[in-house]
Amino acid sequence: MHPILNIAVKAARRAASIINRASLDVDKLTVAVKQQSDFVTEVDKAAEAAIIEVLQEAYPAYGILAEESGNAGTAADAEHQWIIDPLDGTTNFIHGFPQYAISIGLAHKGVMQHGLVFDPNRNELFTATKGGGAFMNEKRIRVSNRIRLDAALIGTGFPYRMFDHVDSYLSIFKDIAQKSAGMRRPGAASLDLAWVACGRMDGFWELGLAPWDMAAGTLLVSEAGGLVGDLSGEAAYMTTGNIVGGNPKIFSQLLQVIAPHLTAKLPA
Ligand code: IPD
Ligand code: CA
Ligand code: CA
Repeated sequence: MHPILNIAVKAARRAASIINRASLDVDKLTVAVKQQSDFVTEVDKAAEAAIIEVLQEAYPAYGILAEESGNAGTAADAEHQWIIDPLDGTTNFIHGFPQYAISIGLAHKGVMQHGLVFDPNRNELFTATKGGGAFMNEKRIRVSNRIRLDAALIGTGFPYRMFDHVDSYLSIFKDIAQKSAGMRRPGAASLDLAWVACGRMDGFWELGLAPWDMAAGTLLVSEAGGLVGDLSGEAAYMTTGNIVGGNPKIFSQLLQVIAPHLTAKLPA
């Protein structure tokens, strides 16, 4: 494993021990509401602080973009940026619904170089380094080889706090639901992408994600032989937040289904 990734794994495991301890008694959590249906607990914050401490000790100059603390000032080395979601799937976590993850990615000049997604419930560690393949618990993973959308299992995320695109979302949903073998909404986007990378789902799409939901997961998918893009298949997903991913065949079929729904109101 690349030494940078090793540090990120150390950081993720620190966060996981905080999350695991707190998961034993979720009724004791203090939950704050950031905005409608956007929750944060002291666990998100403590996990993020632990991650940042480990990363900064090893790479003090790198920039940081983290969900709870934002953009941590101007970094000496602004070309490198850690992109961190300390607890992806907070709503699940609060309910004791065991589907959430820690996501850490490192970008260089905006291009993802390393990524990890750690699922503390299953003890599954997904890692990837650009050009070096994707792994789960150090075993090579690949996207599925399913070629037909009507046989494919597709992951998504339902809108639940921003409803600007809810009508477009539902019309795309209706189309994909009719043309695929089924849809799932597990509730942690980073893990959805990791599950596309290891072939448990054949494709994934969601609107309005944040960079920290996608950074590490997109590298996992591409290093596992899959494709990721915005709603037109282009590269703007990190800025639009609208993302499609999958094995190459399912990715292109998802784009075909989505294309007629693109409008000025729902750009790619
Ligand atoms: C959320 C999860 C969810 C997705 C949301 C994200 P959070 O992240 O990834 O699956 O649908 O859009 O915000 O808030 O739990 O870190
Ligand atoms: Ca998230
Ligand atoms: Ca989060």
